[in-house]
Amino acid sequence: MNHPEIIIIAALAESNRVIGKNGKLPWKIPEDSRRFQQLTIGHTVIMGRKTWEYDVEKCPLIHRRNIIISSSPQTQTIAEDCPSYPFELLFASSLQAALQKVTEEQKVFIAGGAIVYGQALQLADTLKLTLIEGNFEGDVFFPEYTHLIGTYFELVHQEQQPGYRFATYKRIREAT
Ligand SMILES: NC(=O)c1ccc[n+]([C@@H]2O[C@H](COP(=O)([O-])OP(=O)(O)OC[C@H]3O[C@@H](n4cnc5c(N)ncnc54)[C@H](OP(=O)(O)O)[C@@H]3O)[C@@H](O)[C@H]2O)c1
Repeated sequence: MNHPEIIIIAALAESNRVIGKNGKLPWKIPEDSRRFQQLTIGHTVIMGRKTWEYDVEKCPLIHRRNIIISSSPQTQTIAEDCPSYPFELLFASSLQAALQKVTEEQKVFIAGGAIVYGQALQLADTLKLTLIEGNFEGDVFFPEYTHLIGTYFELVHQEQQPGYRFATYKRIREAT
């Protein structure tokens, strides 16, 4: 079976791995949002139902295939007032079911939140992380991953920006 590159894309506070607060991102970093857009446009983005509902407010990301994971995919809806740009929207009952819809793709982005990242970490080929300096309060956290660096993933690219850095890690060993 074909297997797209599975890319986790996430922004997290480096000090405590916070990724969200009250259903939203705890920060506004326009350059990071632009980068997310640049990297994901034209590809499939998989996200959990809570990120879909509270963060993107049930409006699909345009120019992308959006796959939303939920244990009740048949009851999910789209907001009525979303911009009518092109997008594709699918619902899936698990991460595996979502990945089965994209076997012909070259790459697929796992866009959170914490519950989905937790499941995807063992499958991911690539981690594209935005590591943010400073302390942020939050209620959802990226899974513990630093122990995997050097054993399962290696740093292949890093770009420092004021207050944060982009770090890309590639898998060097299959998960056991
Ligand atoms: N900083 C970042 O890069 C980033 C990125 C994305 C999101 N976030 C933040 O993350 C927060 C949301 O994350 P979260 O962890 O609370 O929720 P989430 O991962 O977005 O969604 C969790 C939901 O997804 C569904 N789900 C996940 N795995 C499933 C599976 N294997 N089978 C069936 N359904 C499954 C379930 O929906 P049902 O309950 O419908 O079954 C589950 O309740 C928000 O604050 C958001 O802003 C941050």
